[in-house]
Amino acid sequence: MTNPRSAAAPDPNAVAPAVASLEPIVSLSKRRGFVYPSSEIYGGINAVWDYGPLGVELKNNVKRAWWRAMVQERDDIVGLDAGILMHPQVWVTSGHVGSFSDPLVECATCHRRYRLDELPGAESLTVADLADPSVIERHHLVCPNDAGPLSAPRQFNLMFQTNMGPVQDEGSVIYFRPETAQGSYVNFKNVRESSRKKIPFGIAQIGKSFRNEISPGNFVFRMREFEQMEMQYFLPPGGPAAAAAFDEWLPRRRAWYEAYGVDPARLRLREHEPDELAHYAKKAVDVEYRFPFGWKELEGVHNRGDFDLSRHAAASGQNLEYFDPATEEHYIPWIVETAGGADRATFTFLIDSYREEEVKGETRVSLALHPELAPYKVAVLPLLKKRPEIVELCHRIKDDLKRDMMSVYDDTAAIGKLYRRQDEIGTPWCVTVDVDSLEDGAVTIRDRDSMSQERVGLDHVRRVILERLAAARP
Ligand code: GAP
Repeated sequence: MTNPRSAAAPDPNAVAPAVASLEPIVSLSKRRGFVYPSSEIYGGINAVWDYGPLGVELKNNVKRAWWRAMVQERDDIVGLDAGILMHPQVWVTSGHVGSFSDPLVECATCHRRYRLDELPGAESLTVADLADPSVIERHHLVCPNDAGPLSAPRQFNLMFQTNMGPVQDEGSVIYFRPETAQGSYVNFKNVRESSRKKIPFGIAQIGKSFRNEISPGNFVFRMREFEQMEMQYFLPPGGPAAAAAFDEWLPRRRAWYEAYGVDPARLRLREHEPDELAHYAKKAVDVEYRFPFGWKELEGVHNRGDFDLSRHAAASGQNLEYFDPATEEHYIPWIVETAGGADRATFTFLIDSYREEEVKGETRVSLALHPELAPYKVAVLPLLKKRPEIVELCHRIKDDLKRDMMSVYDDTAAIGKLYRRQDEIGTPWCVTVDVDSLEDGAVTIRDRDSMSQERVGLDHVRRVILERLAAARP
């Protein structure tokens, strides 16, 4: 949804991004199998991306890390996996059919379409401006492509529609969900009763969402099909409980990115102005990251009050009140949500971990990914692939490690090159088997970041790696 203030934030160059441009990230992603353009052999489809063999590992690890922090380590939060397709009334009641839109303008000559608030010269527009038919004239805005005249803005609903069943008429219209949150709200009663949770408690979900964004872009930053990681925290009604929940969740969510290696200097919090709030929010603060294209939202923490549950109770006729045994009151809970994106988080970890340095006259590229996030934890490499005993030992070590973690064997180049290839995809440790290993029963463990090497007995490799992984865990 439209966020005019983000573009108008203070000097974005005061904090340097981790990389000056997205080019090395996009190129590494394609070359090494993190992210590919969707349907590429047909020319691609705008704003949909596919995760390759390494990308799917990285993104799964990001989702696991979120689930660990938000469900596994919490006694007061449970998980849910609601359907993407829901009763269409959900989206009428939630306000998305009426209000989930962005201002669209079209060039009269080249017919390109733009989000009004993202046009050059639109940085200072207010939310009122975005709905004002005279805004184009008043601010002398023109098409950035050919300087042609632009239409007055019209509200463009971001939800994808489809039809359910064999008849395609108005009665069969349903929507691809634009947020996972509504699945948690319509299941509030089911989850509370089956899990016997007492307020305050939360429902966490990870899942696909879809938005027909007018101006997607910046690689996987803004997509039309993406994955969200959202947690809805149900509270007693009123400002004080919501403020306390905000005070807990905002620093906690920012700290999660830091714990997994994002430089704190490239994170900041930004509160939404009252006229900028989404239709459901009483208060919203974004955790922003300094992307190469500016400070942008990574995750939002929102006070949604009783907006969603009250409306669903009224529209469905179901009683969604909670009986609080402590105060002996019936009430509709308030909700503070933490709303993040799995793709945006994955993208951030990729960008922030990217390193280029000079080593022995050559450029070494590495991803200093947190070991928990790294696609492979270990690569097992032979110093001499011509010696079958060495290769056999490598496979034994790799097969042993494989039971506990993603590990890989590679012998397709000389050892220096093999190290560089693993550095480039963020593998924290390489285990090298050499001729001496056959005599002394020891191998070398090389560390990605320090490039230091340690000789370890064969029987200890698995334990050493597991200990290092456990020690790194936030
Ligand atoms: N339930 C509230 C909600 O959906 P949002 O700020 O619209 O709030 C939450 O979205 C998060 O979902 C964002 O902070 C972002 O990480 C991710 N997200 C939203 N739209 C996205 C898009 N088009 N592409 C990738 N991620 C997106």
